[in-house]
Amino acid sequence: MNRAHKYDVLVVGAGGAGMMAARYAVQNPNVNVAVVTKLYPTRSHTGAAQGGVGAALGNINEDKPIWHAYDTVKGGDYLTDQDVADMFSRDAIDAVYELEHMGLPFSRTPEGKIAQRKFGGHTKEFGKAPVERACYAADRTGHMILQTLYQQSIKNNVTFFNEFHVLDIIIDDGICKGVVAYELATGELHTFQAKSTIIASGGAGRMFKTTSNAHALTGDMQSIVYRRGIPIEDPEFFQFHPTGLNKVGILLTEGARGEGAILRNSEGERFMERYAPSIKDLAPRDMVSRAMYIEIAEGRGVGPDKDYILLDLTHIDGDIIEERLPDITEFARIYLGVDPLTEPVPVQPTAHYAMGGIPTTIDTNVIIDGNNTVVPGLYAAGEVACASLHGANRLGTNSLSDLIVFGRRAGMFASEYAAEQNFAKLPDGVQDFAKNLLQDAMNGSGKERVVDIRKELQVTMMDNASVFRTKDLLEKQVKTVAELKARYKNIGVSDKGKLYNTELMEAIELGFLLDNAEQLVVSALNRTESRGAHSREDYKDRNDDEWLKHTLVYKDGEATKIDYKPVALGIFEPKPRVY
Ligand code: FUM
Repeated sequence: MNRAHKYDVLVVGAGGAGMMAARYAVQNPNVNVAVVTKLYPTRSHTGAAQGGVGAALGNINEDKPIWHAYDTVKGGDYLTDQDVADMFSRDAIDAVYELEHMGLPFSRTPEGKIAQRKFGGHTKEFGKAPVERACYAADRTGHMILQTLYQQSIKNNVTFFNEFHVLDIIIDDGICKGVVAYELATGELHTFQAKSTIIASGGAGRMFKTTSNAHALTGDMQSIVYRRGIPIEDPEFFQFHPTGLNKVGILLTEGARGEGAILRNSEGERFMERYAPSIKDLAPRDMVSRAMYIEIAEGRGVGPDKDYILLDLTHIDGDIIEERLPDITEFARIYLGVDPLTEPVPVQPTAHYAMGGIPTTIDTNVIIDGNNTVVPGLYAAGEVACASLHGANRLGTNSLSDLIVFGRRAGMFASEYAAEQNFAKLPDGVQDFAKNLLQDAMNGSGKERVVDIRKELQVTMMDNASVFRTKDLLEKQVKTVAELKARYKNIGVSDKGKLYNTELMEAIELGFLLDNAEQLVVSALNRTESRGAHSREDYKDRNDDEWLKHTLVYKDGEATKIDYKPVALGIFEPKPRVY
């Protein structure tokens, strides 16, 4: 196989954002488009998204984009850039209809419109009452998006390179010129030269012990660009979804609470009434996860160790559950042996979503500083990116809308740019960095085992840097991550073969995860306030005077460096978040 490739537009990642980008880019007749993905496309993690895609269609009750924008900004604890929220809440409507026209099998209202349900933090009239904004296909919304976009991409002649792991990004003279990737089937390195490169490779939840994220979510590109001098924005804001299956972490959609499910403590109390009297169980996720931790800490957890909470669906009509929540019902039956129709389900907060990521403009151009200086030819969209939409806490269903809104923009802007460019000359030794990465892992002393380092990382991140944080815990974790990084230099790989060497790739992925953990803990220690998902017990209040700004964390040799970027404020004045 030829191992030097040239495409006008190259997309890294084949989840919702990547395939929406590819689908859009390929509509431009002047460009050809390829997708490089470490998974077979329909195995991408978008397929695990359950409850819905947020858009103010108003199919059940009146809804407006401006209310959606308000909820996004308030849910994000005012760290959201308001111009981005404004564009997003309007574009989400078009993007959802577009998916419908591509053939996505949404659930339907009796009149045949796209069905919508309630979700956390979705309100009408600027917080007055919950509203149905989550457009859903049962509890398989992400799965349906992925299948629909893959069919569309194939139909429109997008080329796919499946099971190719990107190991390096080619940035030369300040311009992005493509990527270097490892072909899992052969163990060969490939150079993908591109005029425009779109990063859409997903999140990094695997740095935590309990997570809803698939095994593949190891933050590869967040680390690869960081190693090449691009900062990561707001990594301290990592969302814990309240209802992961206890001990397993697999998601039980918030759509369940949208359909009326209730969280109860060991006393059977609907405790969210005390924490968010107006919208109760449908408060934003950061608030619900914190409330669950407090209930457990104060002795009202459930079970022999009093360490979980119950999600009660037993009062909901069984037919509704079977029709609208079939997958989660099966998950509870299979993984916990609990039937949600007759018994409450044990749940715990699970690491779910990175609000931060590779910084971009509203048009998805990757930027390298607080002045919005762009890297020509480089774009990012989806969870890997941070267009400053989600602020300090993302609202449920805004992830799927993010994928389609920003995937579409990335495809459009990247293809327009590529159509006007010639291919730039590649630097000498373009594969050297990737070769060294592979050789270091292959030829390491083997004194340390990858599995041990990964496990220690996941357990300590959960203990020291999850829902509640303090200076002491974060300092401890900064030290632990540094020690794990040092130990990582002594790993070894026992499989010396070239074909399907998954052991080698897991070792490389661990290096990426360690960088992601470093970005998170260093930034969390630095931010001495509580905001959204970043809750400091030693700095309990939000501090807009000092901290209404985005973090940019850079790799600085073996150390890190922090800078800031202003928040784009707008018509919604920062206020205390009351629900
Ligand atoms: O609960 C859920 O279905 C998750 C949705 C999301 O993260 O947006």
